[in-house]
Amino acid sequence: MSKWFYANIVLVGIAIWHVISKSSFSGVPIHLLAGLLGALFVLFNWTRQAVFSTIRNTPDRNVKIKLASLSKKIVPYHRWVGTLALVIIIIHAILVIHLYGFYWENPTFLSGFVTGIALVGMVTTGWLRLIKPSVKKRRAHIYFGMALFFLLAIHIIL
Ligand code: HEM
Ligand code: HEM
Repeated sequence: MSKWFYANIVLVGIAIWHVISKSSFSGVPIHLLAGLLGALFVLFNWTRQAVFSTIRNTPDRNVKIKLASLSKKIVPYHRWVGTLALVIIIIHAILVIHLYGFYWENPTFLSGFVTGIALVGMVTTGWLRLIKPSVKKRRAHIYFGMALFFLLAIHIIL
């Protein structure tokens, strides 16, 4: 599997660990649960990058065929998983702002805000690409994806 696959798993692990460590016996705070759910949806879609790059790089024809047919099965869900991620993250942001206000001095708030903008870019380029594909839009979707991944890592690790 490509290095993206492992990077995704590590990031999911860190996110779950942070959310658990910020929870108490009375349960997981709802704003963190929304953040975690959004992160899972984003990273599920980002795994497409890992699958595509494995298909490109593996010399094993059987692996190529297996991954390509798996990827085909997931295509119809991709757009809705991405859009749902955005809806969940908007809820996460509303709950966070309700709780702390616009807390610009806080690195987690600031990084979250920028990550949110990258997610809007990701979903927008995704829909534009689906409606009328072009090489430029494909590139934009992938570059937004890279930015989104690293911003998300900063947001979750801070
Ligand atoms: C793709 C977008 C986003 C994802 C996947 C995401 C995910 C998460 C996750 C998993 C956490 C819990 C982990 C931790 O605290 O280290 C978290 C916390 C937090 N997020 Fe986000 N987030 C996103 C966007 C945003 C946005 C847009 C904002 C602000 C407007 C924001 C503000 C915060 C804040 C302030 C916390 C810390 C809350 C606390 O400790 O009580 N996030 N986020
Ligand atoms: C969290 C949000 C999203 C992430 C992380 C994501 C990630 C990706 C990745 C990694 C690819 C493969 C890149 C390549 O072409 O080599 C891809 C392809 C694509 N994405 Fe997204 N995407 C997201 C949301 C969306 C949304 C909301 C749509 C809306 C329609 C969309 C539409 C597409 C299309 C049409 C393709 C090309 C078709 C295909 O690969 O089968 N994406 N996306």
